[in-house]
Amino acid sequence: MKIAVIGGGTMGVGIAHRFAVNGAEVVVVDVDLAAADEAVARILATLRTAARRGKLDAAEVAAAGARVSAAGSITDLASGLDLIVEAVIEEVSLKRSILSAAEKQDPRVLASNTSSISIDALADGLAKPERFAGMHFFNPVWAMHLVEVIRGEATSEVTLNSIASMVEFLGMEQAVINDAPGFATSRLGVLVGLEAIRMVEEGVATAVDIDRAMSLGYRHPMGPLMLGDLVGLDVRLKIASHLASVYGERFEPPDLLRTMVADGRLGKKSGTGFYDWTSGSPVPVEES
Ligand code: NAI
Repeated sequence: MKIAVIGGGTMGVGIAHRFAVNGAEVVVVDVDLAAADEAVARILATLRTAARRGKLDAAEVAAAGARVSAAGSITDLASGLDLIVEAVIEEVSLKRSILSAAEKQDPRVLASNTSSISIDALADGLAKPERFAGMHFFNPVWAMHLVEVIRGEATSEVTLNSIASMVEFLGMEQAVINDAPGFATSRLGVLVGLEAIRMVEEGVATAVDIDRAMSLGYRHPMGPLMLGDLVGLDVRLKIASHLASVYGERFEPPDLLRTMVADGRLGKKSGTGFYDWTSGSPVPVEES
């Protein structure tokens, strides 16, 4: 299998890692060749980390690493790849222009890893929308087992079957959702996350107590505020703003979320969010 990932950030690195470990040849494209080279270096680092944790042996790391390469432009990609998956930032106009450039390389399947934008909205302007679908991966991709597959109005059965085979190739499971902004996971997950932030804002409980309530009371693997820190509060804010624009007030981002993002408190990636991550593990920061 030969694929390309466009956007070598958090998700692009994870998607490339998972495909390469399972035997696919992967080309990573970013804004230029230097950025794509950096993304490949991060993939090699994640492979070494997997080896340190006993998930891969040295031969598997070397083989997977050898299957990953960098490209500075979509036009450098070979024609007729099995899959091109877009994983750039959550902006409709950027994604549309990337997808229409990627389509010219004639991939068998064209996919977006968007976490909230309608697949039909992204398909607008594509010459072959029947080959396009959402493939929503979860962070960290090497440890998560779900691909939320989003079927657009025009997505063909052939495309869905190809995606189902790829999901199996990755050793993952799929949930197929008809296109609607936020799909199933972001629509539900972000709503819970926003309500939890409103509860901190209103002084209903501390972040730690809200998270403990949901993880022990509902058996969620982690609470909604810690999850927001892991995803990135800026990412959450972008998704919430987009969903508010289509579903209205119930997705309106709370002031506390806007303030934290404006102050650079983005969660784990910036060192602090609802928790202090500077020591490597989350330590409560109570802001209520
Ligand atoms: P990120 O900000 O870590 O990475 C975005 C990457 O895209 C960067 O490497 C950037 O240089 C690159 N990029 C920007 N413009 C580009 C262009 N014109 N051509 C090529 N590359 C370009 O973002 P992240 O977190 O990886 O998110 C990517 C997508 O995945 C977004 O749509 C997001 O909503 C979605 N997503 C994010 C999840 C998360 O937990 N962070 C989970 C699931 C989906």
